[in-house]
Amino acid sequence: MKTTLTREQGLEALKKYNKEPFHILHGLTVEGTMRWFAKDQGFEDEADFWAMAGLLHDIDFEMYPEQHCLKAPELLRETGAEEELIHAVCSHGYGLCCDVKPEHPMEKILFAADELTGLVGAAAKMRPSKSVMDMEVSSLKKKFKDKRFAAGCSRDVIKEGAEMLGWTLEELMEKTILAMRSCEESVNKEMESCQ
Ligand SMILES: [Fe+2]
Repeated sequence: MKTTLTREQGLEALKKYNKEPFHILHGLTVEGTMRWFAKDQGFEDEADFWAMAGLLHDIDFEMYPEQHCLKAPELLRETGAEEELIHAVCSHGYGLCCDVKPEHPMEKILFAADELTGLVGAAAKMRPSKSVMDMEVSSLKKKFKDKRFAAGCSRDVIKEGAEMLGWTLEELMEKTILAMRSCEESVNKEMESCQ
């Protein structure tokens, strides 16, 4: 899996359709998370593709929330994205807003980690450190079980994602925390510079 899009082009496209800092932050976080997973899963040579899918996965969400994953192909084609990238982006909405099934390991990870990074991010905000650096799986599990906490993060989607991958929920949580640790500093720096 390869993309001809440069990171600059990807970021430009994200910012063209997303003005909310929260949405930029989410794109950057999932980008860094996917880059970590590519290496972890032995797909280091595809890391740019995995990261690009993470960066652009919600490209249509801010402006077209009712057509999430349906409007994305048009916006991505206009950006110059290849069909493989479009498939990857759309598949993260499988069963939620479209019927593009995650097939590749990358797509399954995007499906699972997208929702979980939201929960981890919300849990990190509650910590004195405001960081994932000192977050443990045990405390994340408690937040996962507390249905009122970050209620918008679907526990069912996270569970389904882990199942698709054949991973336990614990494994998915552990890896996602590590992935988010790997990029927290660079994401924060980039957010500072774009405000
Ligand atoms: Fe997302």
